[in-house]
Amino acid sequence: MKFLVTAGPTREPIDPVRYISNRSSGKMGYALAQAALDAGHEVVLVSGPVALAAPHGAQFVLMMTADEMHDAVHAHLAGVDVAVLCAAVADFKPATYAPRKMKKRDGAPIIELVPTRDILASLGALRSKNFLLAGFAAETDDLEKNAREKLAKKQCDAVIANDVSTPGLGFESDENALTIFLPDHSSRVLPRASKHDLAKAVVKILCAMQQKR
Ligand code: C5P
Repeated sequence: MKFLVTAGPTREPIDPVRYISNRSSGKMGYALAQAALDAGHEVVLVSGPVALAAPHGAQFVLMMTADEMHDAVHAHLAGVDVAVLCAAVADFKPATYAPRKMKKRDGAPIIELVPTRDILASLGALRSKNFLLAGFAAETDDLEKNAREKLAKKQCDAVIANDVSTPGLGFESDENALTIFLPDHSSRVLPRASKHDLAKAVVKILCAMQQKR
């Protein structure tokens, strides 16, 4: 099968030296890409800026902004069987980019933000979709409610939720705990484990789902 995985944060530039980003390390997405490769699948990894080495054997596409990641994902959909969008895409970007570094002496700037495009929702809305679509949800509260809302709103086949409120889990960590929410109202709990082991389990589950379609 062919997997497309997004991973890492995006960077939304304010001026040539400043940007808005988030704490995503990319570890979960890279672990998913590696697990898919280990299982013998073809992998396209569309990644934001992270401090990780690209998995050997993956087609690697490095991106900075949400808009770039959106376009890269859509450009690499041909032949994809399973798309797992794990990237922590910035939800907002500066409305304008200042081509010169903003000067401190000019005082604190007011930076207007506008929404970025939702890549996952844009794939969910594709009428021609013949790949399995899984998204992630990083939640601090109301995990199930928020994940199920995302599943419906973004027209996914699975939403994989991680609780980022537990210290030592989720963001930047080597471990995670996941619950996979499915449209038939069922869910699969994958208890605390290394991102490596969880990724292996997720790849297996998503493959089985795609085979059943
Ligand atoms: O709505 P929220 O950002 O919590 O949804 C998370 C899921 O949506 C993740 O799978 C993430 O990769 C995806 N997403 C996206 N594009 C955005 C925002 C989120 O693909 N602009």
